[in-house]
Amino acid sequence: MGEGPLGEVKRAVVLLSGQGSNLQALLDATADAAFGVTVALVVSDRPEAGGLDRARRAGVPVAVVRPGDHADRDAFDATLRAVVAAARPDVVCLAGFMRILGSEFVRSFPDRILNTHPSLLPAFPGAHAVRDALAYGTRVTGCTVHLVDEQVDHGPVLFQAAVEVADGDDEASLHERIKREEHRLLPLAVRLVAHGQVRVDGRRVRIPAGADGRGVERGGQ
Ligand code: GRF
Repeated sequence: MGEGPLGEVKRAVVLLSGQGSNLQALLDATADAAFGVTVALVVSDRPEAGGLDRARRAGVPVAVVRPGDHADRDAFDATLRAVVAAARPDVVCLAGFMRILGSEFVRSFPDRILNTHPSLLPAFPGAHAVRDALAYGTRVTGCTVHLVDEQVDHGPVLFQAAVEVADGDDEASLHERIKREEHRLLPLAVRLVAHGQVRVDGRRVRIPAGADGRGVERGGQ
């Protein structure tokens, strides 16, 4: 495998439950060897997840870990941890994974798990962020790419992008525009975390200047 400008090619494991458009954005980015990250494994809790087909089409190994095959949440979490760890990830990416990870899982990959969420956190956490923003009548929402800690939709923020709510929006149309921003930001975040370019200082995340393509260092010194 070739080497990109950031050196050695790093390994990403992606967890998903749905159609996998964010996985696709990442796969598209990895097609350029200079990106320096390969998707080593895609894991889903749902065998019918469309994202698994995207992975298969790209020749990426897949695994299904079903909660229903396990006695309880701890057992599910333990299998998930083992499956992910076996792929030796430099970064673990939650891309529409609709399960809450157990503490043990989170502690197994410290500051190396990323999530993308379709709102400007801390507004509208939870499974219905786009619907909730519309119901609230907010004029601006967006997406947040953040590190995962032991609380839901809570860890330190790497990137956010704002998306205006249009008068005629329904959940699908608004989510579609939010996803466009997620597709832009998630691959950037995956690359940074995989290559150890992210410094976490409490809730503040420092990333190299220009890493989001806008030439601004978040957090400063
Ligand atoms: C994304 O909007 C993500 O933020 C949310 O679920 C959606 C997944 O979309 N958690 P996709 O499966 O990547 O298309």
